[in-house]
Amino acid sequence: MTNVLLDVRDLRVEFRTRDGVAKAVNGVSYSVDAGETLAVLGESGSGKSVTAQAVMGILDSPPGRVTGGEVLFRGRDLLTMGEEDRRRIRGAKLAMIFQDALSALNPVMTVGAQLGEMYEVHEGMTRKDARARAVRLMDRVRIPAAAQRAGDYPHQFSGGMRQRIMIAMALALEPDLIIADEPTTALDVTVQAQVMDLLAELRDEYHMGLVLITHDLGVVADVADRIAVMYAGRIVETAPVRELYAAPAHPYTKGLLESIPRLDRKGRELYAIKGMPPSLTAVPPGCPFNPRCPLAQDVCRTDRPPLYDVAPGRGSACHFWKETLGEG
Ligand SMILES: Nc1ncnc2c1ncn2[C@@H]1O[C@H](COP(=O)(O)OP(=O)(O)OP(=O)(O)O)[C@@H](O)[C@H]1O
Ligand code: SF4
Ligand SMILES: [Mg+2]
Repeated sequence: MTNVLLDVRDLRVEFRTRDGVAKAVNGVSYSVDAGETLAVLGESGSGKSVTAQAVMGILDSPPGRVTGGEVLFRGRDLLTMGEEDRRRIRGAKLAMIFQDALSALNPVMTVGAQLGEMYEVHEGMTRKDARARAVRLMDRVRIPAAAQRAGDYPHQFSGGMRQRIMIAMALALEPDLIIADEPTTALDVTVQAQVMDLLAELRDEYHMGLVLITHDLGVVADVADRIAVMYAGRIVETAPVRELYAAPAHPYTKGLLESIPRLDRKGRELYAIKGMPPSLTAVPPGCPFNPRCPLAQDVCRTDRPPLYDVAPGRGSACHFWKETLGEG
């Protein structure tokens, strides 16, 4: 037996829009083991959140629709299992953390009551016991003076503290897997690091799987084990973090890496990927990245690259992955 918790296979999601059908997710596959962190990286609109929403069953539908693939949780497909099983798994075993804690929390309910409600509803606890558990949980995510603060409303907390409350909500039922969608993007840099450290610590303590959606390569380097880089609704490169940083095998990843300022590259011009991602209603034929790619050849404009095996645990959807790797 393996430790695979979540195994997403060839997932496809479309949105019907006024401009046509937007293919937001086009055959995405990834898996996450217990205790492991997979970072999902990519520019705005690349399909990171929609993939997560399809996994969690919270897709905006309509206009969104899962048109293919499997979402296996411990080997069982969430997309086809009975409604009751699916709800039980998604309610208790999978949890999600959003970027914007303020809109995800109920503004007219104290945080102690919100956290406590999880235990009342799912574990049948009395209000008093549930409240005590809520305070313990707030303490666990290091909210100072938790017992007093349990009586406060979400808007009375700072952004960083609110994100800790979101983490506590996600953690309440001790899920097997957490999907965190840009959990620290709205916070300032020092608070970002503290919240990320807390997440990593809790992942280890509870041996949870973590899917970390972000466009911050710095965050990824510290916390993740593996990366999946998305472009136009596809995974274009996947690799263990260190290997990807040392030698990317896709020109898009290379561009992303070269666009972060690094001390050892001081003085060198920052490489920014030229152009914009394609419209999802009109993805170019061949490699979707070809209009922006410095290495593009004729074949790139006609043949869509599959995810080539680059090395064990590594894949790249580039016809010229060898050349890209070789450049270092
Ligand atoms: N509710 C919706 N209605 C129509 N199209 C949608 C909807 N939600 C997402 N899409 C389409 O799916 C695409 C991918 O969106 P998604 O939110 O997954 O991007 P993302 O990678 O999470 O970007 P970001 O970094 O900005 O969060 C969008 O560009 C859009 O075309
Ligand atoms: S397949 Fe061609 S266009 Fe696409 S990333 Fe590779 S070199 Fe660039
Ligand atoms: Mg998103």
